[in-house]
Amino acid sequence: MSNPSFIIVAIDGGAASGKSSTSRILADQFNLLHVDTGSFYRHITAELLRRQVPYTDLPALKNALGSLRFTTQLAGRSAQMLIDGLPAGDEIRDQRVNEHVSHYAAIPEVRQTLLAYQRGQVEVAQAHQFRGLVMEGRDIGSVIFPAADFRFFLHADPVERAKRRAAEGRQDSIAERDRLDSSRKTSPLKSSAGAIDIDSTHQSLEQVVAAMAATIATKLSPV
Ligand code: CDP
Repeated sequence: MSNPSFIIVAIDGGAASGKSSTSRILADQFNLLHVDTGSFYRHITAELLRRQVPYTDLPALKNALGSLRFTTQLAGRSAQMLIDGLPAGDEIRDQRVNEHVSHYAAIPEVRQTLLAYQRGQVEVAQAHQFRGLVMEGRDIGSVIFPAADFRFFLHADPVERAKRRAAEGRQDSIAERDRLDSSRKTSPLKSSAGAIDIDSTHQSLEQVVAAMAATIATKLSPV
């Protein structure tokens, strides 16, 4: 790593646990590249559905994965994954993708396809002079960056999480995605040893962010 003070913050947690809101604010406070890996899994899912490649057809899936070209473009402080030069559309938040994404994400070949791309975001962040990156997902602290400077795991009561998503006006299969994400063999959703567990059920977004920011500030001062 060319810049020794470059920091990596990993934020994992279940569906609608507050990863994106907290990550975005921390990215602004510390001038970090924000990387939402859930959006990558959603984008791949939408693309495979568009190509009518079912997650049950492994040979067709492998073939399709091998033909996809991944690049990155920045939208403010967030990394956007392009597939064959195109950004994700709004449909990646639709119910169809909500219902399918965890099935595609459970397939080792899909995860393997995204592994190097996700790690490569360090070079993207450094090339754009960010002071580090904050990456959110399910397996960031356990698999993608187990040696990250900070590894947080967000918990929240499922009822509270369902309320949050409904307040966003979105229909989502939160419980079903959590069940599939936690029970898969490859890179399941779980808090890894040494991660900082935060339960946000009875805390405001500001309180959660303040706790995380105070921890990060032990190594990097806010901008
Ligand atoms: O925003 P929300 O918490 O609802 O989910 P997301 O972060 O957009 O992730 C969508 C889905 O992608 C998850 O339910 C997982 O199946 C999958 N995912 C994953 O397997 N590994 C990651 N690092 C990120 C997402």
